[in-house]
Amino acid sequence: MCGIVAYIGQKEAYPILIKGLQRLEYRGYDSAGVALFNDGNLNILKRKGKVNDLLQFSKDKNTAGNIGMGHTRWATHGVPNNTNAHPHPSGDGDLAIIHNGIIENYEPLKKALKNKGHIFTSDTDTEVLVHLIEEVQRETKTDIAEAVRLALSQVIGAYAIVVLDQKDPTRLVAARKASPLVIGIGKDDFYLASDATPIIEYTKNVVYLNDEEIAVVDLKNGLEIKTIANEPQVPVIQEIHMEVERLEKGGYDHYMLKEIYEQPRTIADCMRGRIDSKNNRIYLGGIMEHKKRFQNAKRIIIVACGTSWHSGLIAEYLIEELARIPVEVEYASEFRYRNPIVGEGDIVIALSQSGETADTLAALEIAKKRGAMIYGIVNVVGSSIARLTDAGSYIHAGPEIGVASTKAFTGQVTLLTMMALNLAHERGTISESEYQKLIIELENVPNKIKELLANNEENSKIKYIASVFQNAENALYLGRGYNFPIALEGALKLKEISYIHAEGYPAAEMKHGPIALIDENMPVVVVATNHSAYEKILSNIQEVKARKGRVVAIVEQGDVHIKNIADFVIEIPKTAEPLTPLLAVIPLQLLSYHIAVMRECNVDQPRNLAKSVTVE
Ligand code: M6R
Repeated sequence: MCGIVAYIGQKEAYPILIKGLQRLEYRGYDSAGVALFNDGNLNILKRKGKVNDLLQFSKDKNTAGNIGMGHTRWATHGVPNNTNAHPHPSGDGDLAIIHNGIIENYEPLKKALKNKGHIFTSDTDTEVLVHLIEEVQRETKTDIAEAVRLALSQVIGAYAIVVLDQKDPTRLVAARKASPLVIGIGKDDFYLASDATPIIEYTKNVVYLNDEEIAVVDLKNGLEIKTIANEPQVPVIQEIHMEVERLEKGGYDHYMLKEIYEQPRTIADCMRGRIDSKNNRIYLGGIMEHKKRFQNAKRIIIVACGTSWHSGLIAEYLIEELARIPVEVEYASEFRYRNPIVGEGDIVIALSQSGETADTLAALEIAKKRGAMIYGIVNVVGSSIARLTDAGSYIHAGPEIGVASTKAFTGQVTLLTMMALNLAHERGTISESEYQKLIIELENVPNKIKELLANNEENSKIKYIASVFQNAENALYLGRGYNFPIALEGALKLKEISYIHAEGYPAAEMKHGPIALIDENMPVVVVATNHSAYEKILSNIQEVKARKGRVVAIVEQGDVHIKNIADFVIEIPKTAEPLTPLLAVIPLQLLSYHIAVMRECNVDQPRNLAKSVTVE
């Protein structure tokens, strides 16, 4: 994880770095720091805590310079403190480095460097890397770019780095392997960052660095790229389209709330151009281009982590039910290490908001090596997963800044619903009338979410329920069928932002264990919007009530039976059963949000988490 940003040009670097770091804070916020070169001196300022702590600390310090780098950290090696914060200087103080990733072999490297007289002050793997570059430079008498290249050839692990040498202050050297790095090309300056968000104000022209490439941005010679194996590369300049306003809070107290409220638009954006409303047809480019492979697929394997894994579970229900293709959903972190049986004829779909999740990326690489077709469903355009896959679809949710995923989740579910319908139609496993009915219903989802979000009565009810349960220590979430993954997602949302322990369960599994937890203090949130299993869910609620549990039920408008037995009910608009997850998740997102706010938790940046998990 960690966010890195750097600048070289004629402008003052500090404000660019600070703004960039604030945009990248979603990647980690354990510490922040900058290194600035000015008047022959390298000045490093760093602080434990957030970018705001760094700003406070730097208020009365010298922050001048037209060349510099900044870092926001998610700790891997060494606790979050001022010493372990980046940038890290070399032993002689000439070099400074920022790093996102993990140097796996840092211990033997550190030992060897210590034997050569290097003294380390931090516990980080990154400090070892900058000392290694310094040592290589000293031994080979090469320039900084070559020293970085030679040093990296000794490194095992993942990195996106930027290195500055104060003896050579007209250039920056950057490199990447398994951690993202984007280079922005201005008129007479360059920007480097973990993603494009710190760059878009200044230039639309970017180059995405590939794995095992080194870039030198030089004020005299421009941009040069080569591989670590020393092969020159031609930079591919791409134009990015991103609105700055979409990165701001837009009047909401938190990004999470803004992103919850954006969902009617983001779901509509996800469908735009993919549904032909006149003829009621779905056309997903990525699928239709590989129609034969999908039609003949032996099986689909979905790999993902966290919330994206929950979307994958919904896809399993959707694709198996509608398109009759067997689907397996795997935690990417398990898949990558268990020698999975996968090969030609399989389609492996990676789900990822960031497109940078290390485990998901590694799982895809394994599937690709074994001959499976790999397909990516991601949000961040140009991300590593998007570039690795054979084909794919973007969900077009726009930047998601809140660490708790909301609009990316509904974007993924929308896309997967379209995929299931597209495949079902192509394979002839759905009747024309059912196909058309579901398309019409799907197109109505954005308006139904709008209606739900604008319903003051339901919203005040959600806030009231949040106030009742804000001090709970545990919570149970139950759901069946399409809404079992929604129970998992509701529980994850609650625990990650409010630190209340919560578990999601298939409702019928409750009697095999979790029912023992139920007493008068236990909130039990039941997603009860299923049509086919309504009676069963009703019985599950009775079972909870018989043990004095307090039930919050998500029901469809007009429900009469559950209303009579649940302690609280939240109504959502009616829709077709396979589409209920898209609506049922909204009140659960809001419930977690309000509980977290009431508990005074940092909603957008919960403790110990980061938005983009680029370490395994
Ligand atoms: O970027 P990805 O979708 O690959 O991220 C996967 C998980 O890290 C992510 O969904 C995480 O669980 C979120 N914090 C959930 O809100």
